[in-house]
Amino acid sequence: MSRVLFLATLAIAAAGVRWEITPPPPAAIRAPRNPPAATAIERGHQVYRRYGCVMCHGADGKGGIANPNAETDGRVPGVTFVAEGYTRGELRRKILDGYPTVGKKDPNGPRPPFRMPGWAGQMTDAEVADLVEYLWSLYPKSETQKWR
Ligand code: HEC
Repeated sequence: MSRVLFLATLAIAAAGVRWEITPPPPAAIRAPRNPPAATAIERGHQVYRRYGCVMCHGADGKGGIANPNAETDGRVPGVTFVAEGYTRGELRRKILDGYPTVGKKDPNGPRPPFRMPGWAGQMTDAEVADLVEYLWSLYPKSETQKWR
């Protein structure tokens, strides 16, 4: 009798072991326990949206809303070509300092309503760094081949 009990226990134990080493279903393998760390560009894109750059410079930085009488064609300029005109350090400074005044297209015309705000004291160093990487990434790939 005790031998039967012993064997039964053994069988249950063995089944238990098999149960434990049964691989999890594929869905559980695929779902990452923590989301993968975002790249600098992805984080920068979040910063771009969070601080409202998107309101003036558009969803993909392609340019912006009307800014009547601004020398930049009467609109807020796009930011897709900044990799051409700035170094990363200069871009960082521009973001922190902003532009105190926007040039007028017609000197006798009205002041353009929108100017570029400065973000010093509001963004962390890491946010600015990620933002710069994001703006850099907007540069069209076809252009990159021409000059790099
Ligand atoms: C209230 C509207 C407004 C918001 C919000 C804004 N900008 Fe601007 N930005 C401007 C204007 C206007 C200019 C043009 C300044 C000039 O040329 O006088 C400009 C210029 C720039 C430039 C220089 C573009 C060039 O071709 O030289 C960069 C880079 C830029 N903004 C980045 C940003 C980023 C990044 C944010 C968000 C953190 C942001 N801007 C938020 C209005 C805005």
